[in-house]
Amino acid sequence: MPHQITIKPSNHVFTVIEDETILEAALREGFVIAYGCRNGACGTCKGKVLEGVVDYGTYQEHALPDTEKALGQALFCQARPLTDLAIECREIGAAKDIQIKILPCRVQKLDRFASDVAILRLKLPTNERLQFLAGQYIDILMKDGQRRSLSLANAPHDDALLELHLRNYGGPFSDYVFNRMKEKDILRFEGPLGTFFLREDCAKPIILLASGTGFAPIKSIAEHAIHKGIQRQMTLYWGARVRADLYMHELAGKWQSEHGITYVPVLSEALPEDQWSGRSGFVHRAVMEDFPDLSGHQVYACGVPAMVEAAHKDFTTQCGLPDDEFYSDSFTPAVPAPG
Ligand code: FES
Repeated sequence: MPHQITIKPSNHVFTVIEDETILEAALREGFVIAYGCRNGACGTCKGKVLEGVVDYGTYQEHALPDTEKALGQALFCQARPLTDLAIECREIGAAKDIQIKILPCRVQKLDRFASDVAILRLKLPTNERLQFLAGQYIDILMKDGQRRSLSLANAPHDDALLELHLRNYGGPFSDYVFNRMKEKDILRFEGPLGTFFLREDCAKPIILLASGTGFAPIKSIAEHAIHKGIQRQMTLYWGARVRADLYMHELAGKWQSEHGITYVPVLSEALPEDQWSGRSGFVHRAVMEDFPDLSGHQVYACGVPAMVEAAHKDFTTQCGLPDDEFYSDSFTPAVPAPG
């Protein structure tokens, strides 16, 4: 039975039909509420149920602790309404006019950078272009129905080829890319997705924070900012274990020398052969050493969940960063299948 959802404070109204989640229905009707993983792992879509009852669905405990649930919070990518609802959540105006498409594409180029990082460049059919915001991701649709989310690393203006950075974490898509993929292979994807993108209606200085291949959407944001001549102060921190993991170190160095984006690489396990004299340790701690007061900044963070979660917690509790100025995209694993 359909249920009517009213978003507060905007009073936008949409209808959830059949087995849809609240997020699926909102997106279908053109209302973009903040979201990331869409599988109950990242917490980005969290909001409050002001009136009515929901089925909370399947999610990871850390994304919605029981204490928050008791206060009326729910994850809208998982929750389904059992009655009409009034909900409170963040609506994202900038993403609402961008059409989400399912498209085929061809692997135009496949490069290996570090020992376990692959860079894919995908070509769309002639006459197709993907409109997206710098920082968004796509889902590769695999033949067995599984999806693999990957951030777009090219900037929106540079859209002849879509660029993806992939670390070999295992799993079916990595297995395919690292063992069997050939140039000219055909893939299908859905996108653009997510609400991690550069907020351009703001003049605050920016911290860009990446770990590993979390560099991909950060690269898109940096190249977009350079292309548009955005004059906000930007500092990029890129954390990795060893020097080889900074697989586009020279490019980031060039942004510093040619475009004024300060670049701070940070290694956590530098090898003797790296001859590393740069910063060491946890990448988000390096930010805190340099910027003990983040109250006037925006932060864009992408990488492994441990880094993103630690940065969010420490920046907001110790450095005065406003909670709503921390934008993130973390590599969250899918919710395990029930049973
Ligand atoms: S988008 Fe709902 S938990 Fe990540």
